Amino acid sequence: MDTLRFPLAIIGAGALGLHFAARLATAGPVALVARNDAQAAALRAGTRVGGVLFQAQAFGPAALPRADWVILLVKTGDTLAAAATARSMAPRGIVSLQNGLVDHLLQAACPGLPTGQGITTAGAWRDADGVHPAGTGDTLLPPGFEAVAERLTAAGLPARVEPEIAAARLAKLLVNVAINPLAALHGVTNGALREAPYRAALDALVDEAWPVLRAAGLALDAEAARQRVIAVATATAANRASMLQDVQAGRRTEIDAITGALLEMARQQGIDLPAHREIFSRIKALEVD
Ligand SMILES: NC(=O)c1ccc[n+]([C@@H]2O[C@H](COP(=O)([O-])OP(=O)(O)OC[C@H]3O[C@@H](n4cnc5c(N)ncnc54)[C@H](OP(=O)(O)O)[C@@H]3O)[C@@H](O)[C@H]2O)c1
Repeated sequence: MDTLRFPLAIIGAGALGLHFAARLATAGPVALVARNDAQAAALRAGTRVGGVLFQAQAFGPAALPRADWVILLVKTGDTLAAAATARSMAPRGIVSLQNGLVDHLLQAACPGLPTGQGITTAGAWRDADGVHPAGTGDTLLPPGFEAVAERLTAAGLPARVEPEIAAARLAKLLVNVAINPLAALHGVTNGALREAPYRAALDALVDEAWPVLRAAGLALDAEAARQRVIAVATATAANRASMLQDVQAGRRTEIDAITGALLEMARQQGIDLPAHREIFSRIKALEVD
Protein backbone atom coordinates (compact mmCIF):
# COMPACT_ATOMS: atom_id res chain seq x y z
CA MET A 1 0.00 0.00 0.00
CA ASP A 2 1.29 3.50 -0.84
CA THR A 3 2.26 5.62 2.15
CA LEU A 4 -0.25 8.40 2.79
CA ARG A 5 0.93 11.86 1.71
CA PHE A 6 -0.42 15.06 3.31
CA PRO A 7 0.05 18.60 1.96
CA LEU A 8 0.95 19.73 5.48
CA ALA A 9 1.95 18.17 8.80
CA ILE A 10 2.49 19.57 12.27
CA ILE A 11 4.88 17.94 14.71
CA GLY A 12 3.93 18.60 18.32
CA ALA A 13 0.35 18.17 19.47
CA GLY A 14 0.56 20.64 22.33
CA ALA A 15 -1.17 23.96 22.87
CA LEU A 16 -0.09 25.72 19.67
CA GLY A 17 0.13 22.57 17.52
CA LEU A 18 -3.46 21.61 18.31
CA HIS A 19 -4.68 25.20 17.85
CA PHE A 20 -3.07 25.31 14.40
CA ALA A 21 -4.11 21.77 13.43
CA ALA A 22 -7.76 22.36 14.38
CA ARG A 23 -7.85 25.52 12.29
CA LEU A 24 -6.00 23.99 9.34
CA ALA A 25 -8.32 20.97 9.33
CA THR A 26 -11.22 23.28 8.46
CA ALA A 27 -9.49 24.13 5.13
CA GLY A 28 -7.84 20.86 4.11
CA PRO A 29 -6.04 17.73 5.28
CA VAL A 30 -3.38 18.14 7.96
CA ALA A 31 -1.41 15.42 9.72
CA LEU A 32 -0.68 15.91 13.41
CA VAL A 33 2.33 14.01 14.73
CA ALA A 34 2.35 13.14 18.42
CA ARG A 35 5.23 12.00 20.60
CA ASN A 36 3.97 8.41 20.76
CA ASP A 37 1.29 6.09 19.40
CA ALA A 38 -0.87 6.23 22.53
CA GLN A 39 -1.05 10.03 22.31
CA ALA A 40 -1.90 9.76 18.61
CA ALA A 41 -4.78 7.38 19.36
CA ALA A 42 -6.13 9.78 22.01
CA LEU A 43 -5.90 12.67 19.51
CA ARG A 44 -7.82 10.65 16.90
CA ALA A 45 -10.54 9.98 19.49
CA GLY A 46 -10.80 13.73 20.03
CA THR A 47 -9.49 16.68 22.06
CA ARG A 48 -11.35 19.85 22.98
CA VAL A 49 -9.91 22.86 21.18
CA GLY A 50 -11.70 26.10 21.94
CA GLY A 51 -14.50 24.05 23.53
CA VAL A 52 -15.16 22.04 20.34
CA LEU A 53 -14.22 18.35 19.90
CA PHE A 54 -11.40 18.07 17.34
CA GLN A 55 -10.63 14.62 15.98
CA ALA A 56 -7.17 14.98 14.47
CA GLN A 57 -5.64 12.90 11.71
CA ALA A 58 -2.96 11.99 14.21
CA PHE A 59 0.07 9.74 13.89
CA GLY A 60 2.72 8.34 16.18
CA PRO A 61 6.31 7.49 15.25
CA ALA A 62 5.42 3.89 14.27
CA ALA A 63 3.26 4.80 11.27
CA LEU A 64 4.23 8.21 9.93
CA PRO A 65 2.66 9.52 6.73
CA ARG A 66 4.60 11.57 4.22
CA ALA A 67 4.02 15.31 3.99
CA ASP A 68 4.86 18.09 1.54
CA TRP A 69 5.54 20.67 4.25
CA VAL A 70 6.17 20.22 7.97
CA ILE A 71 5.72 22.77 10.76
CA LEU A 72 7.62 22.13 14.01
CA LEU A 73 5.74 23.06 17.17
CA VAL A 74 7.54 21.17 19.94
CA LYS A 75 9.35 22.87 22.83
CA THR A 76 12.90 23.77 21.84
CA GLY A 77 14.51 21.00 23.92
CA ASP A 78 12.76 18.49 21.63
CA THR A 79 13.84 20.13 18.36
CA LEU A 80 16.37 17.55 17.23
CA ALA A 81 14.07 14.56 17.79
CA ALA A 82 11.22 16.35 16.01
CA ALA A 83 13.52 17.36 13.12
CA ALA A 84 14.49 13.71 12.63
CA THR A 85 10.81 12.76 12.55
CA ALA A 86 10.06 15.57 10.08
CA ARG A 87 12.87 14.46 7.81
CA SER A 88 11.56 10.92 7.67
CA MET A 89 8.30 12.27 6.24
CA ALA A 90 10.13 13.16 2.98
CA PRO A 91 8.98 16.80 2.95
CA ARG A 92 9.79 19.61 0.52
CA GLY A 93 10.66 21.79 3.50
CA ILE A 94 10.54 22.04 7.30
CA VAL A 95 9.73 25.27 9.11
CA SER A 96 9.83 25.95 12.83
CA LEU A 97 7.49 28.36 14.59
CA GLN A 98 9.12 27.73 17.97
CA ASN A 99 10.41 30.45 20.24
CA GLY A 100 14.14 31.09 20.64
CA LEU A 101 16.61 30.33 17.88
CA VAL A 102 16.62 26.81 16.42
CA ASP A 103 17.34 27.61 12.78
CA HIS A 104 20.95 26.37 13.02
CA LEU A 105 19.83 23.11 14.69
CA LEU A 106 17.37 22.41 11.89
CA GLN A 107 19.95 23.08 9.20
CA ALA A 108 22.42 20.75 10.87
CA ALA A 109 19.82 18.02 11.40
CA CYS A 110 18.40 18.19 7.87
CA PRO A 111 21.27 18.73 5.42
CA GLY A 112 20.17 19.29 1.84
CA LEU A 113 16.58 20.04 2.82
CA PRO A 114 15.04 23.53 2.84
CA THR A 115 14.58 24.47 6.50
CA GLY A 116 13.82 27.73 8.24
CA GLN A 117 12.39 29.40 11.30
CA GLY A 118 9.51 31.83 11.31
CA ILE A 119 7.76 33.61 14.15
CA THR A 120 4.16 33.75 15.27
CA THR A 121 2.14 35.92 17.61
CA ALA A 122 -0.65 33.32 17.68
CA GLY A 123 -1.21 31.94 21.16
CA ALA A 124 -2.78 29.01 22.98
CA TRP A 125 -2.65 27.30 26.35
CA ARG A 126 -3.87 23.96 27.60
CA ASP A 127 -5.33 22.56 30.79
CA ALA A 128 -7.37 19.53 31.79
CA ASP A 129 -10.30 20.78 29.66
CA GLY A 130 -8.23 20.88 26.47
CA VAL A 131 -6.62 23.60 24.41
CA HIS A 132 -7.65 27.23 24.65
CA PRO A 133 -6.68 29.32 21.61
CA ALA A 134 -5.70 32.86 22.64
CA GLY A 135 -5.69 34.47 19.22
CA THR A 136 -4.83 33.74 15.61
CA GLY A 137 -2.04 36.34 15.63
CA ASP A 138 0.29 36.92 12.71
CA THR A 139 2.73 34.37 11.40
CA LEU A 140 5.84 35.36 9.44
CA LEU A 141 7.65 32.68 7.44
CA PRO A 142 11.02 32.57 5.70
CA PRO A 143 11.16 32.88 1.90
CA GLY A 144 10.53 29.52 0.25
CA PHE A 145 7.59 28.69 2.52
CA GLU A 146 4.92 30.52 0.46
CA ALA A 147 2.82 27.34 0.24
CA VAL A 148 2.70 27.10 4.03
CA ALA A 149 1.70 30.77 4.33
CA GLU A 150 -1.13 30.19 1.84
CA ARG A 151 -2.49 27.20 3.76
CA LEU A 152 -2.33 28.98 7.12
CA THR A 153 -4.05 32.08 5.74
CA ALA A 154 -6.76 30.00 4.04
CA ALA A 155 -7.47 28.43 7.43
CA GLY A 156 -7.89 31.81 9.16
CA LEU A 157 -4.36 31.99 10.58
CA PRO A 158 -2.95 35.14 8.91
CA ALA A 159 0.51 34.38 7.55
CA ARG A 160 2.95 35.77 5.01
CA VAL A 161 6.51 35.31 3.88
CA GLU A 162 8.86 37.93 5.39
CA PRO A 163 12.01 38.65 3.33
CA GLU A 164 13.74 40.07 6.46
CA ILE A 165 12.85 37.08 8.61
CA ALA A 166 16.25 36.99 10.37
CA ALA A 167 15.79 40.56 11.64
CA ALA A 168 12.20 39.75 12.71
CA ARG A 169 13.44 36.70 14.64
CA LEU A 170 16.06 38.82 16.40
CA ALA A 171 13.41 41.39 17.39
CA LYS A 172 11.37 38.58 18.92
CA LEU A 173 14.48 37.18 20.61
CA LEU A 174 15.15 40.61 22.13
CA VAL A 175 11.71 40.57 23.73
CA ASN A 176 12.06 36.98 24.86
CA VAL A 177 15.51 37.36 26.47
CA ALA A 178 14.23 40.33 28.49
CA ILE A 179 10.71 39.33 29.53
CA ASN A 180 10.71 35.55 29.77
CA PRO A 181 13.53 34.82 32.24
CA LEU A 182 12.79 37.86 34.43
CA ALA A 183 9.10 36.99 34.74
CA ALA A 184 10.01 33.36 35.43
CA LEU A 185 12.59 34.26 38.06
CA HIS A 186 10.30 36.57 40.02
CA GLY A 187 7.00 34.78 39.40
CA VAL A 188 5.26 37.89 38.09
CA THR A 189 3.08 38.75 35.10
CA ASN A 190 4.65 40.51 32.11
CA GLY A 191 3.08 43.85 33.02
CA ALA A 192 4.75 43.93 36.45
CA LEU A 193 8.17 44.09 34.79
CA ARG A 194 7.47 47.67 33.67
CA GLU A 195 7.49 48.88 37.28
CA ALA A 196 9.90 48.95 40.22
CA PRO A 197 11.52 46.82 41.51
CA TYR A 198 11.84 44.88 38.21
CA ARG A 199 12.13 47.70 35.67
CA ALA A 200 15.83 48.37 36.23
CA ALA A 201 16.67 44.70 35.60
CA LEU A 202 14.47 44.65 32.49
CA ASP A 203 16.20 47.71 31.04
CA ALA A 204 19.61 46.26 31.90
CA LEU A 205 18.82 43.03 30.03
CA VAL A 206 17.65 45.00 26.98
CA ASP A 207 20.63 47.36 26.98
CA GLU A 208 23.08 44.47 27.31
CA ALA A 209 21.44 42.36 24.58
CA TRP A 210 20.90 45.14 22.06
CA PRO A 211 24.47 45.61 20.74
CA VAL A 212 24.88 41.87 20.21
CA LEU A 213 21.57 41.51 18.39
CA ARG A 214 22.20 44.68 16.41
CA ALA A 215 25.55 43.31 15.20
CA ALA A 216 23.71 40.13 14.15
CA GLY A 217 21.15 42.08 12.09
CA LEU A 218 18.51 43.48 14.47
CA ALA A 219 16.90 46.45 12.73
CA LEU A 220 16.15 48.53 15.87
CA ASP A 221 18.18 51.30 17.48
CA ALA A 222 18.79 51.26 21.25
CA GLU A 223 15.76 53.40 22.12
CA ALA A 224 13.46 51.49 19.78
CA ALA A 225 14.67 48.25 21.37
CA ARG A 226 13.62 49.45 24.84
CA GLN A 227 10.30 50.68 23.46
CA ARG A 228 9.63 47.35 21.73
CA VAL A 229 10.09 45.40 24.94
CA ILE A 230 7.89 47.77 26.96
CA ALA A 231 5.21 47.69 24.24
CA VAL A 232 5.08 43.88 24.41
CA ALA A 233 5.06 43.90 28.23
CA THR A 234 2.12 46.33 28.03
CA ALA A 235 0.20 44.41 25.36
CA THR A 236 0.63 41.18 27.35
CA ALA A 237 0.47 42.78 30.81
CA ALA A 238 -1.84 40.17 32.35
CA ASN A 239 -0.04 37.16 30.81
CA ARG A 240 2.23 34.71 32.58
CA ALA A 241 5.22 34.23 30.25
CA SER A 242 5.67 30.69 28.91
CA MET A 243 8.93 30.35 30.85
CA LEU A 244 7.12 31.25 34.07
CA GLN A 245 4.46 28.65 33.29
CA ASP A 246 7.17 26.05 32.65
CA VAL A 247 8.96 26.84 35.93
CA GLN A 248 5.71 26.73 37.91
CA ALA A 249 4.75 23.40 36.31
CA GLY A 250 8.21 21.91 37.01
CA ARG A 251 8.91 21.56 33.27
CA ARG A 252 12.17 22.18 31.48
CA THR A 253 12.21 25.75 30.10
CA GLU A 254 13.29 27.06 26.69
CA ILE A 255 16.14 29.10 28.24
CA ASP A 256 18.81 27.35 26.11
CA ALA A 257 17.20 28.47 22.84
CA ILE A 258 16.46 31.97 24.19
CA THR A 259 19.12 33.36 26.57
CA GLY A 260 21.49 30.52 25.64
CA ALA A 261 21.29 31.52 21.96
CA LEU A 262 22.04 35.16 22.84
CA LEU A 263 25.02 34.16 25.01
CA GLU A 264 26.39 32.03 22.16
CA MET A 265 26.05 34.98 19.76
CA ALA A 266 27.84 37.21 22.27
CA ARG A 267 30.61 34.62 22.73
CA GLN A 268 31.18 34.58 18.98
CA GLN A 269 31.41 38.39 19.01
CA GLY A 270 33.81 38.33 22.00
CA ILE A 271 31.34 40.20 24.24
CA ASP A 272 30.51 39.33 27.85
CA LEU A 273 26.89 39.68 29.00
CA PRO A 274 27.01 39.40 32.81
CA ALA A 275 23.31 40.11 33.44
CA HIS A 276 22.24 37.46 30.92
CA ARG A 277 24.84 34.98 32.21
CA GLU A 278 23.50 35.39 35.72
CA ILE A 279 19.83 35.04 34.81
CA PHE A 280 20.65 32.01 32.63
CA SER A 281 22.28 30.29 35.65
CA ARG A 282 19.41 31.19 37.95
CA ILE A 283 16.78 29.78 35.59
CA LYS A 284 18.88 26.64 35.12
CA ALA A 285 19.01 26.28 38.91
CA LEU A 286 15.20 26.54 39.07
CA GLU A 287 14.92 23.74 36.48
CA VAL A 288 17.06 21.44 38.60
CA ASP A 289 15.16 22.10 41.86
N1 LIG B 1 1.66 28.27 23.24
C1 LIG B 1 1.85 29.48 22.71
O1 LIG B 1 1.01 30.39 22.88
C2 LIG B 1 3.05 29.76 21.85
C3 LIG B 1 3.12 30.98 21.14
C4 LIG B 1 4.22 31.24 20.30
C5 LIG B 1 5.25 30.31 20.22
N2 LIG B 1 5.16 29.13 20.94
C6 LIG B 1 6.25 28.19 20.80
O2 LIG B 1 5.77 27.02 20.15
C7 LIG B 1 6.45 25.86 20.65
C8 LIG B 1 5.41 24.88 21.20
O3 LIG B 1 4.74 25.51 22.29
P1 LIG B 1 3.47 24.87 23.00
O4 LIG B 1 3.00 25.88 23.99
O5 LIG B 1 2.51 24.35 21.99
O6 LIG B 1 4.16 23.65 23.77
P2 LIG B 1 3.48 22.33 24.38
O7 LIG B 1 2.07 22.61 24.75
O8 LIG B 1 4.41 21.82 25.42
O9 LIG B 1 3.46 21.32 23.14
C9 LIG B 1 4.57 20.66 22.63
C10 LIG B 1 4.11 19.29 22.20
O10 LIG B 1 5.15 18.64 21.48
C11 LIG B 1 5.16 17.27 21.87
N3 LIG B 1 6.46 16.67 21.52
C12 LIG B 1 7.64 16.79 22.15
N4 LIG B 1 8.60 16.10 21.49
C13 LIG B 1 8.00 15.54 20.41
C14 LIG B 1 8.46 14.72 19.35
N5 LIG B 1 9.76 14.36 19.26
N6 LIG B 1 7.58 14.31 18.42
C15 LIG B 1 6.28 14.68 18.48
N7 LIG B 1 5.79 15.46 19.47
C16 LIG B 1 6.63 15.89 20.42
C17 LIG B 1 4.90 17.35 23.35
O11 LIG B 1 4.56 16.08 23.87
P3 LIG B 1 4.62 15.84 25.48
O12 LIG B 1 3.42 16.54 26.03
O13 LIG B 1 4.60 14.37 25.58
O14 LIG B 1 5.91 16.46 25.96
C18 LIG B 1 3.75 18.36 23.37
O15 LIG B 1 2.52 17.73 23.10
C19 LIG B 1 7.42 26.39 21.71
O16 LIG B 1 8.69 26.62 21.16
C20 LIG B 1 6.80 27.71 22.12
O17 LIG B 1 7.76 28.64 22.66
C21 LIG B 1 4.09 28.85 21.74
